[in-house]
Parts: sequence; C-alpha cells; structure tokens
Amino acid sequence: MVMFLSMFEGKFEERCKEALALAKRMRHPIVINHYDCDGLCAGGIITGSLRKLGIRARNRTVRKLGEEEIRLLAKENEKEIIFADFGGAMGEAIESELADSSVLIIDHHQAKDGKILQVNPHLFGMSGDFEMSAAGAAYSVFRDDDFAHLAIVGAIGDMQEPLTGANRKILEHAEKTGAVKSGTELRFFGRNSRPLAQFLSYASEPYLPGLTGDTDACHAFLKGIGIEEKKGEKWRSYSDLSKEEKRILVDGLVDHLFAHSSRIPLDELIGEVFDLPRQPVGTPLSDAKEFSTLLNACGRQGKPEIGIAVCIGEEGAQEESQALLRKHRQALREGIAYAENSTEDFGEFYFLDARGVIDDGIVGVVAGMLYGVIRRDKPILAFALYEKGEIKISSRATKKLVRDGINLGATLAEACAGIGVGGGHSIAAGAQVKEDKINEFLLAFGEGVGKSKSEPA
Ligand code: C5P
Repeated sequence: MVMFLSMFEGKFEERCKEALALAKRMRHPIVINHYDCDGLCAGGIITGSLRKLGIRARNRTVRKLGEEEIRLLAKENEKEIIFADFGGAMGEAIESELADSSVLIIDHHQAKDGKILQVNPHLFGMSGDFEMSAAGAAYSVFRDDDFAHLAIVGAIGDMQEPLTGANRKILEHAEKTGAVKSGTELRFFGRNSRPLAQFLSYASEPYLPGLTGDTDACHAFLKGIGIEEKKGEKWRSYSDLSKEEKRILVDGLVDHLFAHSSRIPLDELIGEVFDLPRQPVGTPLSDAKEFSTLLNACGRQGKPEIGIAVCIGEEGAQEESQALLRKHRQALREGIAYAENSTEDFGEFYFLDARGVIDDGIVGVVAGMLYGVIRRDKPILAFALYEKGEIKISSRATKKLVRDGINLGATLAEACAGIGVGGGHSIAAGAQVKEDKINEFLLAFGEGVGKSKSEPA
C-alpha cells in the first residue's frame, strides 16, 4: 500500500488524513453506501481497505438516506458509521440523531460542511459532479492501490467522463500502478469479448437506432461495409480488427447514425476507454465501463452484496454478477424501446411516464440513454412506481444544459419541498414524491427549469 502520495494539495489532503485517522480508530464500523455503481465502488474501497487494515468493517447498501432512514439507524445503536455516496446533505439530521456515534461522511453530492467530519470535493473547491466521485473521495482517504481501479469505475458509473481535474490525477496515478490502462476506441461494451454483431446489437450506451437489439440488422450492416465477421471458425471481436477495419467500422457507424438522424455526439461513440489489466481477462471486469454497468446491475437488481464482493475481489462473486449483468442489460433494452415511443415534450423538459413499465431501479439509467434518440435541448424527467404510494423520479441533463444554467439537484430539491425528497447532481438527480402530489411537482419542476435557464450559473 502506498500511503498519501501527495495527489492533492492543502485542505482537502488534510481532511482526507483526518478522515483516515478517524476510520483507523474505529473497531467494528458499519459502512453504509448508496446502491448505484459509484456507491458500491466507494463502499467496496472503504470496506476492503479497512479489512486490510485489520478492522472488522461490515457493509450495508441502501437505496436512499433520508431522515427516516437516519432515525431507524439511531435505533440500531450503531456506534461507528461511515456513510459513502450520500450523507452530505443530511448533516443536521445525522448530527442530532446520531450524536452518540462516531460518524464519517464520504460523499460527492452537493452538501454543506458541518460538525460531522466529511470528505467531499464540493467543500474544497472541486466539482463533485464532474471531477470526483464518491469512489474517488474514498480512494483519496484510504489510498490503497489494490482498489485504485474502483475510483475510475465509480467516476465512469456516475457519468463523469471525460475524466478531468481530480479524476485525471487519480487516473494518472492508477496508470502508474498498472491498475488502469487508457486508450482511444469505440466505446461500446465487449470490445475484447463479444462477436462483432453482438458488440453492435448489444450497444445500449450509446443506443444505436436501427442496430441495438437487432442482430440481423447488425449482420447486414457489417456485410454492407465489407467487414468479415469470422476468421476461419472463430467469430472476430472488435479488438481482432486491423486499424484499417476499425476505421471502416467507425466511418460506417457515423454514416448509419447520420442516416437515422441520431443525436449521438461523436465523443459518445469514440473516446477514452479504460482497460483494467489486473482483472480477469475477457470478462466485463477488465473494462471500466463494463465493470460499472455490472455494478449497477448488482445494485439495481437488488443484489448489492454481490457488487461489494466483486469490488473487494471475493472469489465466486464474479460469475454471479455476470448473470445479473445479462438480466440488467435485457431490462435496459426493453426500457429504452418503450421510452423511445413514449417520451413527451412538456415544454421546459421531456417527460417519460414509465410507471408500471420500467423498474424504479433502472428508470434513471434509461432516462440518460434517451439522449441517444431525442434532442439534447432540454432535461429529461422520468417517473416510475416506488414504494408506499410514492413515485420515483429521475432526471438527466447534458453537460451543455448544465453550462447553460440547469442544476437538476437543486431544482428537484426545491420542487419536492414539502411533498417528497429530492436532490443529487446538476446533471443527474432523483427524487421520491407522494403520488397525489405529482401535478404540483411537475408544475414546480417546469418552473424551476425555466428559472435556471434564465439565470445561468
Ligand atoms: O436514482 P437516480 O439514478 O435517478 O439518481 C440520480 C442521482 O441523484 C444519484 O446520484 C442519486 O444519489 C441522487 N439522488 C439524491 N436524492 C434523491 C434521489 C437521488 O441525491 N432523493
């Protein structure tokens, strides 16, 4: 383990050291993390690092951390708690409900500093939306190089590409340790492991109109551009192609997307990719983006403990996680097929009512994928059914919209005041609102979006 390479300067570095000292004083802490990819990476880094330090850390993954969850936690009488990927916005509730416990918050959502020790890029002049994930913050505290790759996987899971600022520093360090190797390629899944037609037909981020989900169309497309799918008996993968063939494939895809009036910007098609050379070759774990989807699959399909086990490197977890990944990707394909035909223009935003059709665990991912097929000129808001008479809301924007003033985390939090709970990042945020208040919510959200456009940040 390499301790405290001076990756960051000044106060943030100091805060990380303070946090590590607090964590090391804990004897039997519970690490409580969010259920998405970044939350699992952060939870995995913290739990794995603590266990390597000989501390008997337990782990729990939850879907949200609101006042009710904090009150319930207080009743459990946990004395040592580390929150990961949430908690920053709940400082006051944590302070009052968990006053007798030793608490550390490692988060990257918009938050305020308070009495509880918190490591959060937002509090140190860095962007938690674009420059550092919760996993990056967790890695900055523990600096255990066995988990360096997870800092990159977490950032990718939280849509922080291209990696800049703090993320870039972490990447440079992770490359030096040999945990990550970056390059520029087509960014779909299965570059190394999938036969070409599957490589295209399974593409979901970005979604390829006319190709995703249609293997016959993919065979025809490859034939049309003159790319051989087989060499002898062996199906070829993208990484088997020559440089010239890769160029032909990319040109062909650009022409195809153009012909289908697709809105996918070129940098979502081709860009920086991250191989993870220490992970098992030919599995989804050897590519940071596939790893991130695999963790999302575990968390969002109700099996976060498998995601944590994969992060920590427990034996056997990988096989189980791959079955979840297949199920997840099928659900995403079905979700986007529905969303493509059901999204409405609500003036200030696009609206997808997926109640009873798309599961609340993946509705946010589907909302983000919609930008592959609809105009990128306004935010997307999606509804799914949630528990106890509530609606799960997910919203997504683009970087350009954020530059133009959109801040979904703040707008959702405001629109939910008194009728639910909401928050998150400027580019991706979520909420839960009582079902009988959704009209009120929709009006308030539309007004909020309109206001933020007229008052750019
Ligand atoms: O659930 P979804 O993927 O749409 O959430 C997007 C982002 O908003 C996540 O980072 C999540 O942590 C955050 N969020 C939040 N408060 C909520 C719901 C979601 O901060 N009530």
